[in-house]
Amino acid sequence: MIRVRVPGGSYPVILEPGLLSRAGKTLKKLGASRVCVVTNDVVWHHWGATLEKGLGAQATVIRVPDGEQNKTLSTVETIAEELVRARADRGALIVSLGGGVIGDIAGFVAAIYLRGVDYVHIPTTLLAQVDSSVGGKTGVNLRAGKNLVGSFHHPKMVLVDPSVLSTLPERELRAGLFEAIKCGVIGDQPLFNFLEKKAGDVLDGKLPALTRVIHDCLALKARVVSADEKENGLRRILNFGHTIGHALEAETSYRYFLHGEAVAWGMRAATNIAEARGTLHGSAAARIHALILRYGPVPPIVEIQPQDLASRLQADKKTRQGVVHFVLPTKIGAVKIVPDITLHQATRAIAGLLS
Ligand SMILES: NC(=O)c1ccc[n+]([C@@H]2O[C@H](COP(=O)([O-])OP(=O)(O)OC[C@H]3O[C@@H](n4cnc5c(N)ncnc54)[C@H](O)[C@@H]3O)[C@@H](O)[C@H]2O)c1
Ligand SMILES: [Zn+2]
Repeated sequence: MIRVRVPGGSYPVILEPGLLSRAGKTLKKLGASRVCVVTNDVVWHHWGATLEKGLGAQATVIRVPDGEQNKTLSTVETIAEELVRARADRGALIVSLGGGVIGDIAGFVAAIYLRGVDYVHIPTTLLAQVDSSVGGKTGVNLRAGKNLVGSFHHPKMVLVDPSVLSTLPERELRAGLFEAIKCGVIGDQPLFNFLEKKAGDVLDGKLPALTRVIHDCLALKARVVSADEKENGLRRILNFGHTIGHALEAETSYRYFLHGEAVAWGMRAATNIAEARGTLHGSAAARIHALILRYGPVPPIVEIQPQDLASRLQADKKTRQGVVHFVLPTKIGAVKIVPDITLHQATRAIAGLLS
């Protein structure tokens, strides 16, 4: 069990293969007046019966349509109306069963329904298991952009069962693994070494290997989030690969890359910048590039001009007077935040990836 410290308390993250079938019992112990599961058809089809076995039929199940395009205020409203119909009161417990999309929506509903009720995450994608289920960030998208409405609201508990990844499409698994590589680079050299040595087992979805990877990522995220709840300091290191990653996602209207894939390119660009500045040894840079490629394929960057990405960075609210903050590796397992990367340096790094 991993504990995440938050102001005024802490919550446990329990990681165990097979946990989903016992999750019902664990949830019942929380003594909620009503358990309301928020999920979607895809996840419920694969895993609903397993959860229901322990939970009993009394729980209310609210299914929302699958996909990032439904991470909206309108979905939040629909769920809230259903909660009222199910007579969920302040003692109700919301349970998210799904990937990061379901987790972000359900967490946000929990933050605002009756001015806040408890919730538990049961993440079912690798990305959600290693990243989005810990940290308390909740929210939805607006037409104007992603995650523009939201709140910090921490779960009571996170229940992680790596066995549910057996039904996850392989591309989604690999996208989550890029976030795991990120964890290795920013703060866990043994994890990076493990991802190198056991790539075959990890990519085959072998449970012992996956469980070890998920554990190490969760431990790192818990450490970072416990030290910095609201992303003022240490938490920014989690953004390694995300500056250019977000620009790539936006430039392709969020339809071409999975998030982790865009981050994979972003990490390679940041690695190039670090190497060009002489702050990262060439051999370490080569290992980072090689590991990312090993966990590929990553969809190629096509029909995107480096200058267009640079303008995205320019428009980014974190860019001031032509310089951008970047999280750059200094060796495998350590990064620093460099505040003065010029758009020219960033463009060169991106162009380097295209050649
Ligand atoms: N809150 C945070 O800190 C945080 C951090 C990172 C990302 N996010 C958010 O997470 C979202 C992305 O999450 P995601 O990558 O998990 O995508 P997702 O939730 O859309 O899931 C990907 C796909 O996999 C399906 N799926 C989920 N579990 C499955 C399973 N076990 N078997 C088969 N199919 C399954 C889903 O229905 C969906 O079609 C984005 O909206 C992003 O903004 C939030
Ligand atoms: Zn990410």
